[in-house]
Amino acid sequence: MKLLFSAVIIGLWISQGHVMKSWERFGLSLIKSDQLQRLAIYGEIPLCMKRGLVDQQIDLDVLLDAIDLPASRRPPIYVYTGRGPSSLRLHWGHPIPFQLANWLSGLTGGPLHVQLSNDEKFYASDTQSLLDIERFTVENERDIRAICNTDRLFMSRNTQNIADLYTTAMPMAKALPIGTLREVFGLDDSAPIGRFLQPLWQMAPCFADPDPRALCVVACAVDQYPYFRVARAVAERVGKRKPIVIAASQFIPALDNPGSKMSASSPKSCIFFGDTPEVVHSKLSRAVSGGGRTIEEHRERGGDTSRDVAMQLLRAFLEDEAEWTGLVEGYKRGIILTAQVKKRAIGVVNELLAGIEKRRNESIKASCE
Ligand code: TYM
Repeated sequence: MKLLFSAVIIGLWISQGHVMKSWERFGLSLIKSDQLQRLAIYGEIPLCMKRGLVDQQIDLDVLLDAIDLPASRRPPIYVYTGRGPSSLRLHWGHPIPFQLANWLSGLTGGPLHVQLSNDEKFYASDTQSLLDIERFTVENERDIRAICNTDRLFMSRNTQNIADLYTTAMPMAKALPIGTLREVFGLDDSAPIGRFLQPLWQMAPCFADPDPRALCVVACAVDQYPYFRVARAVAERVGKRKPIVIAASQFIPALDNPGSKMSASSPKSCIFFGDTPEVVHSKLSRAVSGGGRTIEEHRERGGDTSRDVAMQLLRAFLEDEAEWTGLVEGYKRGIILTAQVKKRAIGVVNELLAGIEKRRNESIKASCE
């Protein structure tokens, strides 16, 4: 099986902040306007898609055709996403795929499976103990529940639920040559066995429904696409349909690098769930801006929204369309200053954080009653 990409190369590109203009050569295509129009028939498009953060797909038409069918002829449809707990709390990049998944689950009426691949970072890192992982898993699960506030949600933990996936993974483990995993995930002979196993567990939920007609819709960002590219390549051989993938190619950036990806592996450049309003204020005040070096220069040349972290956060999370358009225009023309944009971003993030903490505390309380 020849695969024209490698997770290592994709990861490197993303971490170095290269903007990929097209994911076409990896098999993904831009979400087209007629597809957006078809989606809009079923309800309001989520912000992450409307603003173009989620802009890649493969087989979205297959999903659209399936939901157009009368209920009696529809195949089972379910949504799948996940998180590899690597920090106590989620950071501000994580809500994007979970919001998307939550919305897709509402759109299709199908269950939403969130896999906590909590073995993943244990195999990939020398610093995380099993004890850390258990703590991270519990807290991350609570954060995800606060975003995906639906009774269609089903969460699994690899450390507890792998037995449920074992028979699904077996045909894949037989069909996939080890060389494919080596090539795609950049593993050599010295890589721990766990790193060869982990892709199997991440792919297996794509085939978990025993009905061979079932459609799995994966919501993620493009850094996770290699797993699903392999799953698609092996689908026919395990007698299942190829997973549909809808993905964000635009990442929420690290606070110190507007072209990159916010990542828990660099905690200083993240805003975390649970950060206090003061911490958010101090972190965002220091974030990289696309404004001029002086007010005069800014007024003369205007700001660069694509190089501005606060603007990127507003693009993803400021709901009010008219306000967003006004901010972009005003910033580009140098009428709105960096400090104003940061202040607005701090307000939006803090308001969303307060809502998440509230829902999180309510669900902790409910689970204790
Ligand atoms: P993880 O924990 O690294 O990330 C969880 C999800 O968040 C996306 N993501 C981001 N999106 C936008 N901006 C960012 N800065 C940003 N950082 C991360 C990731 O693409 C991912 O969708 N191996 C996975 C866990 C996993 C999974 C899955 C993901 C298990 N099963 C099924 C998607 C689908 C991981 O470590 O994700």
